[in-house]
Amino acid sequence: MKSVIKRASLWIPLAFGCSGGPALEDGRHPTGSQAIGTSSDYSALYVANAAEGTVARVDLSSGTVASLLVDGEPTRVARAGRRVFVSLRASRQVAVLEDDGARLVEVKRIGVGREPFGVVANELGTRVYVASSLSNTIQEIDVTSLEVIREIRVGDEPRWLALHPGGNALYAGGAWRGSVFYVDLTLGTVERTQLPEVRSFSFDVGEGEVMARRITGDMAVNPKGDTLVIPTMYEDNATTVEEEPDPERFGGGYGSPGRMNPSITVVEIDGERPKTSDGLIVPTAEGGTTGYPSSVTVSPDGELAVFTIEGEGRVHAFEIEDHRGDRGDETFADVRIFEKIEPRLVFESFANMGARGIAFVSNERAFSYGFIDRTVQELNPNRDGSQVWFELGGLHSTVAQSNLSPDVELGRMLFYAANEPRISMFNAGLSCATCHFDARTDGLSWAFEGGRRQTPSLAGRVSLTAPVRWEGDAATVAADAMRTSQGLMGGEGLTTRDAEAIAAFIDSTRDVDSPRKGMDDPAVTRGKVIFDRADVGCAGCHSGERHTDNQVYAMFGLDAVKTRSLTGVAGSPPYLHDGSAPTLYDVVLASRSRIMGDTSMLSEAELQDLVAYLESL
Ligand code: HEC
Ligand code: HEC
Repeated sequence: MKSVIKRASLWIPLAFGCSGGPALEDGRHPTGSQAIGTSSDYSALYVANAAEGTVARVDLSSGTVASLLVDGEPTRVARAGRRVFVSLRASRQVAVLEDDGARLVEVKRIGVGREPFGVVANELGTRVYVASSLSNTIQEIDVTSLEVIREIRVGDEPRWLALHPGGNALYAGGAWRGSVFYVDLTLGTVERTQLPEVRSFSFDVGEGEVMARRITGDMAVNPKGDTLVIPTMYEDNATTVEEEPDPERFGGGYGSPGRMNPSITVVEIDGERPKTSDGLIVPTAEGGTTGYPSSVTVSPDGELAVFTIEGEGRVHAFEIEDHRGDRGDETFADVRIFEKIEPRLVFESFANMGARGIAFVSNERAFSYGFIDRTVQELNPNRDGSQVWFELGGLHSTVAQSNLSPDVELGRMLFYAANEPRISMFNAGLSCATCHFDARTDGLSWAFEGGRRQTPSLAGRVSLTAPVRWEGDAATVAADAMRTSQGLMGGEGLTTRDAEAIAAFIDSTRDVDSPRKGMDDPAVTRGKVIFDRADVGCAGCHSGERHTDNQVYAMFGLDAVKTRSLTGVAGSPPYLHDGSAPTLYDVVLASRSRIMGDTSMLSEAELQDLVAYLESL
């Protein structure tokens, strides 16, 4: 077994290494997209309340909260000068607000692509970038004219953005495959890279297969511009999930040891290029497992990486310089062996439930935003020599009022909770949202005794497609919630009401906005005609409001597999029960062999039209 080397002793000062280009003038300027932001004089906070459709302004001296209703699912905020740019995920727009010193006022809406998510501004306040995740594009907005001046095509559903302090390089995190896009804004070029590759490890087998990697939240660049920090999950989805976990072994099921590895990936920036191939993966916990990290922010002095654990309502931090540099002798396998872990976390603190963003107003004063309890909590870093800890400060403000029914409210809390014994085993750090990320999907297929099963997206009213699960073997969403949490997740004590509340929450989610939905597009019109043709046969099974007859068929090697809903299907690659079709095009191609409908008589152009139609649902 390899030994763990303490990073600090290996640290070579930056001056001798590579340079990361220009640094921030003011280290407080957020380099990454965030759901919480600060005013230009750092006297107020801005918070995007997605579920409530509001943007709150919190005055830091008085604690007064002023809310502006913008609707459309305000998701992330970025401030450029006196203006505040808010991505409206459900309405294909960015709202431009102005701060009059007491409240926010809407100035304009800028049309962007589908499901705008991350938004960042440069420090000069001249440019804003927004990731239109479902369109796979990034828009560059000129802050003076408030016009989109450039559109950059990326891929893998870009959600999270970080901007290099110099303003000439942009990093976008994709929802799928751990993709990191590096955009050279001067040249207008895009390079796709991936999070570093890590193999699973177990005592019985040793090194196993390459783990699935995902980005799980807002990333950031440190003020010096030489490090990119990314909230990540490394997951062993290749080792068979034991359907009846062995009580003798710790865990089993989805929470078996080493399966879920939440971490912050620390990537050096060389010039402006992220060296993702040899990033260092810092586990978020020393023993057991935490929920996934939902955001990471760097303190203004560049010393601390502070990250939020959404499902546990906690904030943790580590010293960046201890964790930069090459991975040396240390592999992820080592750090997964709990006893071998060097203490890395310099502090952890309870913050607020659903914590998903930190804003610094000074090195000594920060605020976290929690979307489950709808609060902003003051957290003050304290230092004494090498010791760093956070104290809960005086400001604790409610930034939105719930407009959810009591059932949906309860269901949402349970769905996102990673430390709730009713839902999952102690210390497994497991929530429904771990896999049904964002109440949708992780894009992964999991190994079961009966073969691989893709995680279905839970967007929209899933109950309309009951029975659920690929094989249609769960009568209702509530039945599946009960079975999964009390079985595979090791939960102990979900009541029927809890399970029904979870189902109510799932059914309250909206459908994914599709790349071609509502577009007057001739390809879509032609594709619909093909889809409806009797000889092609798609509409025979994919019928009704959600494009499914809710029946099971013998298909793709299974005796019984349920017709999948095609609503929002473009937003949940890969496809089929085992995730074997990477794209929709692969699905229609598979149908050439008449395994599902018949596309054998269609021309290449007609196949493309069929895909265009699927992308409009
Ligand atoms: C480790 C990943 C993982 C976790 C954690 C998880 N799920 Fe799933 N979920 C899956 C997979 C994989 C399937 C497909 C299983 C199958 O059909 O055989 C699934 C299927 C479902 C379905 C059926 C959806 C459909 O359209 O058919 C529902 C509903 C669901 N899960 C809800 C939940 C809830 C509620 C929780 C928390 C109590 C949860 N899941 C936790 C991976 C996960
Ligand atoms: C006999 C009923 C039937 C017909 C006809 C049919 N489908 Fe399907 N469809 C299914 C079933 C069952 C599944 C799930 C298959 C699986 O996952 O193994 C499915 C899955 C899909 C999926 C993947 C959905 C996902 O989330 O993974 C797409 C896309 C799709 N069908 C499109 C089509 C198109 C296009 C046609 C016409 C060429 C068609 N289907 C014809 C029953 C049918």
